[in-house]
Amino acid sequence: MVRLVIKKKIGDFTKTIKVDGDKSLSIRSLLLGSQSFGKSIIYNLPKSGDILSTVNGLKKLGVKIILKNNQCLIYGAGLNGFSYKKGITIDAGNSGTFARLLLGLLIKSPYEIKIIGDKSLSKRDFLRVILPLEKFGAKFKPYAKNKLPLKILGSEFLKPINYLENRGSAQCKSAVIFAALNTPGRTFIKAKKSRNHTELFLKHLNLPIKIIKKKSYDLIEVVGEKQFKSFKYEIPGDISSSAFYIILTLLLKKSKLKIENVNINPSRTGFVEIINKMGANIKFINKKTLYGEPIADICVKSQSSFKPINCPIKLNSNAIDEFLVIFLLASRASGISVFKNLGELNNKESPRLKLASRILRKMGVKVKLGIDSIKIYGNPNLDIKKKNYN
Ligand code: S3P
Repeated sequence: MVRLVIKKKIGDFTKTIKVDGDKSLSIRSLLLGSQSFGKSIIYNLPKSGDILSTVNGLKKLGVKIILKNNQCLIYGAGLNGFSYKKGITIDAGNSGTFARLLLGLLIKSPYEIKIIGDKSLSKRDFLRVILPLEKFGAKFKPYAKNKLPLKILGSEFLKPINYLENRGSAQCKSAVIFAALNTPGRTFIKAKKSRNHTELFLKHLNLPIKIIKKKSYDLIEVVGEKQFKSFKYEIPGDISSSAFYIILTLLLKKSKLKIENVNINPSRTGFVEIINKMGANIKFINKKTLYGEPIADICVKSQSSFKPINCPIKLNSNAIDEFLVIFLLASRASGISVFKNLGELNNKESPRLKLASRILRKMGVKVKLGIDSIKIYGNPNLDIKKKNYN
């Protein structure tokens, strides 16, 4: 059931804000810190649920982590340097990214480790990471189960694999890259384009990773078992959190917003490309590169009209976490927008495509929902009243 409550409408504003640190980079920096040698310092780590699940999970694996003020100190003991007792359980909470990427790092674990998650994570597919990790030599229990709770048992006799990632899932690609770090020899990955933070992080740490970029996929080669030193890392603002404020500003009458210090990696800015095609004019200023990742301030102004879009499917993966707010903009466009090939949205924390259509209908927007597509009949005069929509 979807219940929509509109309590208060927001008035116009001119503001400069900062958003929380990027979730994907936070989880990667914690996991890589745990595999490095020595004390890593991560600045600006958000304290959200997924990040706390990651911190607590790593502590259970014997990693010392201290959170103080704006700093996170993480003491790594090298690759596969976890130290824990038999029979432990790691609770990944709601975090698919933590659970899936961690499995890659547990590929050598000498004892079985149980991974559990909350109700939503326990409904999500894990076969997508189990299959490649089994090829490296890990074992999963119960056999042929594809959801949490699961047990992983690593192997001392790992062998590198050739892996084809054709969903456009950065979590699957990264789990395999993390497994490759702990495996002797060369792992080869052919991956449909998706966020490339893991690859850029490994490059920044001078680890042996090679990437050849093709038009719609990347060829990645990772040489395993290379130890690396601890590092410092500053987490930039999260573009996915920024998306809500960007769309809000666009849809108001006379507002202006600057969001400072946000990660604008092109593999994350698909939604900016999409909404700019719909007529928005989002600008990136003060661009710089930090730890191999592009960062900028984002400037956005309100606008009175938006064009509908036939959304190019090649942008789907780079906008995967922002479609709900893109749909909001489409509902105020002057015409019909079409979004296709979005089946993956229903495999997220909630079935996002189905929920989006229910929410939009409650708001009075005409929507046609397909198995993996949605058609939104935009109405520039759409006026949502302050009330409960049961
Ligand atoms: C993420 C990848 C995406 C995204 C998730 C974070 C990551 O998931 O939806 O919020 O940090 O690698 P998929 O890889 O399943 O598409």
